[in-house]
Amino acid sequence: MTGDDIRAAFLDFFAEKGHDIVPSSSLIPHGDPTLLLTSAGMVQFKAYYLGEETPPNPRLASCQKCFRTTDIEVVGDISHLTFFEMLGNFSIGDYFKREAIAWGWEFCTQRLGLDPERLWATIFLDDDESFQYWREIGLPESKIRRFGEKDNYWGPAGNSGPCGPCSEIHYDLGEESGCGKSTCGPNCDCGRFSELWNLVFTQYNQDEAGNRTPLPSPNIDTGMGLERTLAVVTGKSSVYETDLFTPLLECIAGLSGKKYGADEAIDHAMRVAVEHGRGITFLIADGVIPANDGRGYVLRRLLRRAALFGRRLGLRKPFLAEIARVTVGQMGHTYPELREREDFILKVIRLEETRFEETLNTGLELLDGIMAGLTESSREISGQQAFKLYDTYGFPVELTREIARERGFSVDTAGFEREMAQQKEKARAAHRFELAEKGLDNLKNKLDLKASKFVGHDRLSHRSTLAALVVDHQPVETVREGQEADLILESTPFYAEMGGQVGDTGKIDGAAGQFLVTDTVRVPPGIIVHQGHVVRGELSVGEEVTAAVATARRLDIARNHTATHLLHFALRQVLGDHAQQRGSLVAPERFSFDFSHLTAMTPPELEQVQRIVNDKIRQNLPVYAAEMSYQEAVKEGAIALFDEKYGDKVRVLKTGRPPISVELCGGTHASATGEIGFFHVLGEHGIGAGLRRIEAVTGRGAEDFIRRRFAGLQSIAGIVGADAENVRDRVDGLAAELKNERRKRAALERALVKTQRTITFLYEKLRDKFPEWDIGIKFIFNGEVVNGIKLIAASLPSSNMEALRELSDYLRQDIGSGIVVLGSVYEGKPVFLAAVTNDLAEKHPAGNIVNEVAKVTGGGGGGRPDLAQGRGKDINKIDEALRLVKSLV
Ligand code: SER
Repeated sequence: MTGDDIRAAFLDFFAEKGHDIVPSSSLIPHGDPTLLLTSAGMVQFKAYYLGEETPPNPRLASCQKCFRTTDIEVVGDISHLTFFEMLGNFSIGDYFKREAIAWGWEFCTQRLGLDPERLWATIFLDDDESFQYWREIGLPESKIRRFGEKDNYWGPAGNSGPCGPCSEIHYDLGEESGCGKSTCGPNCDCGRFSELWNLVFTQYNQDEAGNRTPLPSPNIDTGMGLERTLAVVTGKSSVYETDLFTPLLECIAGLSGKKYGADEAIDHAMRVAVEHGRGITFLIADGVIPANDGRGYVLRRLLRRAALFGRRLGLRKPFLAEIARVTVGQMGHTYPELREREDFILKVIRLEETRFEETLNTGLELLDGIMAGLTESSREISGQQAFKLYDTYGFPVELTREIARERGFSVDTAGFEREMAQQKEKARAAHRFELAEKGLDNLKNKLDLKASKFVGHDRLSHRSTLAALVVDHQPVETVREGQEADLILESTPFYAEMGGQVGDTGKIDGAAGQFLVTDTVRVPPGIIVHQGHVVRGELSVGEEVTAAVATARRLDIARNHTATHLLHFALRQVLGDHAQQRGSLVAPERFSFDFSHLTAMTPPELEQVQRIVNDKIRQNLPVYAAEMSYQEAVKEGAIALFDEKYGDKVRVLKTGRPPISVELCGGTHASATGEIGFFHVLGEHGIGAGLRRIEAVTGRGAEDFIRRRFAGLQSIAGIVGADAENVRDRVDGLAAELKNERRKRAALERALVKTQRTITFLYEKLRDKFPEWDIGIKFIFNGEVVNGIKLIAASLPSSNMEALRELSDYLRQDIGSGIVVLGSVYEGKPVFLAAVTNDLAEKHPAGNIVNEVAKVTGGGGGGRPDLAQGRGKDINKIDEALRLVKSLV
């Protein structure tokens, strides 16, 4: 039998017994904020057990993707897994213990073909009823063992929910794999017995305090680990030897060039790499993205741990995407989301793993340094050191612990936690509501405040009673002109900051005064606090007031808020379902929207998103809200930010009929999308790994933005002497002109620099030996004697008169008696300089010489008998001209 065979056999068997086969739910438990990840088959059925909802069929069966994070640090041994598949049959108030036990037995012995002799059962201490059923099946008394809460009571998943006593089926792997003790049996830690199937008799609902109340009816919830069962059925000694893992192990063996089964340390590293590689593939497929907390952190931690163990296999390059690819190939037919999101999964893994490599290199170095600095007597890494590694370098504390342990060091975990708590405390202190919150906390008892009633969904002005006034954290009866205060009403149209939407402003009028509200905040348990000051007269507790929200501002906010929902919709259309909202800030002038996506959006993508949103605005879709239970909302496809807790009733906001967007949202909105007017993206940028932010404007904000842009354009047009229509051409022309001028200037500057360099160079060189000059000077004559006169004639690639004069001066001195003629290029034209020593100047005036020479290049020159200069036209003839000097003496 293969994994596929067992999955199919199980579901077929229970379909035959009248069960509806339900697909696995996501690893992100929808509608269950108490749970980080789906950890059991029953999770998606919680509402059925609690009687909040009615199942389509009271008999259900599934193969559920499950994730358990409690044992991450021991994964790598032969039995623990983070991700696994759980086969389960469920009865919602239908059959109970007798059938569950009988069918469990039948499936194990008839369908899986397990030897009945090897099967044992465990039951809860006083569960004689189950005992009876196992006996009826034929199990001898000696093979039915009783255990307490630790082993035979299951649940709840998370900190509250359905739970109950259970009975388990264990498989005896044989004496040879056991401890040999006479007491050996199920739950013995020698490993001889493998727990195959847990049959839970779900009868209670446990609250957070641990109190249990009976559920509407007794239920069944069973769970059978597919991997473990497959190992037992196929006679393998571990799950890693089954077909669910062998392709993955082959892959890692291929990548690392190492064999599985030859060396225990290598095997262990391989198991970690493939187990975690498989787990993260499933997590990402269900929408989890690497982060520093929550599910994202589980993902990050697994990926990092796997990468680290990969290093032990000698893998120096990212490899986990390969494991993911094999996982998709192997499991894609059962879990199509893997195939659908394959590209995305691989991309997330590659990116994160590459980033981690960098972190790792820095962190390992630092950690080495820390450990090297510790003495024999204190082999403990301090909490501060571990925290610094984590906080500053992103080095996970689990890794610090693991590496330390391996080298015989320890980590002060408590100290680390303290540092962590301190940092959190600092972050909290920075929270701007803290003052209001703390102030009110002290007063809550005195004031007896309850959650304020919010009436601002339908009206912006409202009469209510002034319930409390707080000045400097003290309750007062009256506030007077000029005084700052926190004001609380029994009911209010003011929206208090929540879900990214900023608080309302406005005014509150009493009989004898007016209070200006500058911000509205929310304080647990839902008290709406109006912050501001008295602008006129006075207000007193108990009086009737009229609270009026600043309407235009509120409508601006509402337009932006509705636009975030449209943007969410459009992003998912353009980028895919992984583009999920992670936060937002909705203000009157603009809004920002954070979402999960790995790479920068391209301009065409942004444009498409903008087009879709504006299309939806023009379609003027209705925007409407309904209250319902969380479960109903999720069923209607509501998109929730799953990390938030929701109450019994949630507000669902829909856009369009049929809706294109269904979101859980308590905010205030436009009543139809047309009110938004116009949507315009200001920009998009990254704000963390896998997180992007879009900033945008709508309505009056967009109008303002566009007016400013046009005004800017208009004034630019004025400056360049064009009008807005043809400013582009004009600017293009100017830019070309500018470019040309810049090029010219650059050429001049280059020539100048070169000349200056030549001068410097000459000065240096001339101090040394004359014949060694090598600066592009080409000597035509170098001290040659013609008719008894010493001649120097040389050309330089580019120079100016000053440089030539300097050089000729030197040469004239050096030559003692003779004629020096230099030629060069200046501003693109030939230039010449002749210097004649005084003894010869009369007979061979420099002016004549330079004039003759310059003539050859199409110019002329003249000057004093001892020093003269000339210019020409054809720079190609400079050398030819200099050669003429010889015939002039
Ligand atoms: N909920 C039980 C478990 O997880 C049985 O499915 O073991």
